Amino acid sequence: MPGELVEWAEVKLRVLHLEDNRDDVELVRRSLTRDGIGCDVHAVSTGPEYLAALQRSEFDLILSDSGVPGFDGQSAMAAAYDRFPGVPFIVVSGNPPPAGELGLQPAGSIAKTDLGALAPEVRRVLRNSSIPTEEPLTTAGADGMRQLVSVVQRLSLARNLQAVMDIVRRAARNLVNADGATFVLRDGDMCYYAEEDAIGPLWKGKRFPLTACISGWSMLNRQAAVIPDIYQDARIPHNAYRPTFVQALVMTPIRTIAPVGAIGVYWADNHQATAAEVDLLQALADSTSVAIESVDLLANLEERVHDRTQELFRRSAELEVLNRELEAFSYSVAHDLRSPLVTIDGFSRLLLENCGTQLDAEGHGHLERITGAAQRMHRLIDDLLELSKVVRAPMHHAAVDLSSLALEIAQGLRDAAPDRQAQIEVEPDLIVEGDAGLLRIVLENLLSNAWKFTSKIDAARIEFGTRPDRSGRTAYYVRDNGAGFDPRQAANLFSPFRRLHPESQFPGTGVGLATVQRIIHRHGGEITAEAAVDRGACFSFTLPTAGF
Ligand SMILES: Nc1ncnc2c1ncn2[C@@H]1O[C@H](COP(=O)(O)OP(=O)(O)O)[C@@H](O)[C@H]1O
Ligand SMILES: [Mg+2]
Repeated sequence: MPGELVEWAEVKLRVLHLEDNRDDVELVRRSLTRDGIGCDVHAVSTGPEYLAALQRSEFDLILSDSGVPGFDGQSAMAAAYDRFPGVPFIVVSGNPPPAGELGLQPAGSIAKTDLGALAPEVRRVLRNSSIPTEEPLTTAGADGMRQLVSVVQRLSLARNLQAVMDIVRRAARNLVNADGATFVLRDGDMCYYAEEDAIGPLWKGKRFPLTACISGWSMLNRQAAVIPDIYQDARIPHNAYRPTFVQALVMTPIRTIAPVGAIGVYWADNHQATAAEVDLLQALADSTSVAIESVDLLANLEERVHDRTQELFRRSAELEVLNRELEAFSYSVAHDLRSPLVTIDGFSRLLLENCGTQLDAEGHGHLERITGAAQRMHRLIDDLLELSKVVRAPMHHAAVDLSSLALEIAQGLRDAAPDRQAQIEVEPDLIVEGDAGLLRIVLENLLSNAWKFTSKIDAARIEFGTRPDRSGRTAYYVRDNGAGFDPRQAANLFSPFRRLHPESQFPGTGVGLATVQRIIHRHGGEITAEAAVDRGACFSFTLPTAGF
């Protein structure tokens, strides 16, 4: 298409290229010019250079490698969209990431091995974004509408006021083919000329009273000022205009109710703006006001999200400190309780041995209760210490043979009570990944509970095996046919000291299941219990890290 080639060659695209390989920069530039795309390429090879270039200059197109050392393509894209929401961003990389893998989407993506595809891709994305903005516009009719639609789209992507102003000052000028445009913000009773885009300097950075300039007039009167010759119009402070090129202008308020600013467009010759041009400018001003409002909302929202995140960080840090303190506290309490206990225990024994004869039966009974209680407290402290160790100990993952562990523990239980008739069945070859020491504590607790709570029945049966849980994952279970419990209590059993059976029938401290649950949680799993009174219990747990 020779016609199209000429058209594109005439437009010198301002290209920012992030690429740390000089040869690739050169290859890309050549492939663009060879395929008829005239361009000024500003190449940068690091993140800081790239960000500085974005701030300093304006571009029509941004090309980027998928990343340079210390700065990835996503950050490059985010910065580009933030600064120039309407400017297309194309990834040119050795290995273009598959679509959908990125958070932000580039306008296009090209492999370095396929640079022949670059120029067509550039044409395609530029056509879609209706840049170049230098494209001359002769009528404010259908073309103007087309441009306006694209400006509105770009405005909807703007994330801050600067981006809105950048889009609008260029769009205002191009929409009506003017020689300059300004973006004026209302600041109390002053007009602040915040941005401009013009053939010569205007008033960027200056402030004028609302009552002393035409932007103020259009805001106060909430209507556009259309002035074909400024030197014939009394509303214009002529002295302020003499140093400039301006001969004609249209000033449009942003928002007709309580205007927040105004958009000015200027011509170097006398120019009577048509009704269509004024309509287009008013439509642009209306879209600008929507964009400013959503930018405000966004800033507000981002601030709130930021505050909330900070708050969450602070709270979780506090919680962590609290948790650590609590663990240290329970550890030292348990630890310190031991020494007075040893004293109580030791002196009661001494009393029994040395003065036993002086005590009557009642006295003996009292002493026995004291030693019994002291021993129970010993067990409690041991269990509490184990519980706090389980939470604090570092984990060492390895393959663990649960079946062998269970058989070993079962043998230990049988050896300790050789008279008991109990059947213990263990599914073979259950190998998992986890901390061997901690998983041993799990099985010891579950199996010894099963052993304990079947002690009062004749044909005790205990089983360790696997079954799928509700979501199809492997669950490991320990089941028995013993005393069981009320299933409504199932969830409570995992809190320390919760016991459903009296100490006189089934001795224990009530810390075992709490320990078990913590270990399972540390492995990323869950543990649940099912039971019925006098019909046995079943504890089953998952181990998501167990990949064998
Ligand atoms: N297999 C089981 N059958 C019936 N009840 C059980 C079983 N395992 C645990 N429980 C109930 O859960 C309570 C808490 O168990 P655990 O924390 O191991 O403490 P302990 O074994 O020291 O009593 C037990 O006291 C008992 O009431
Ligand atoms: Mg127990």
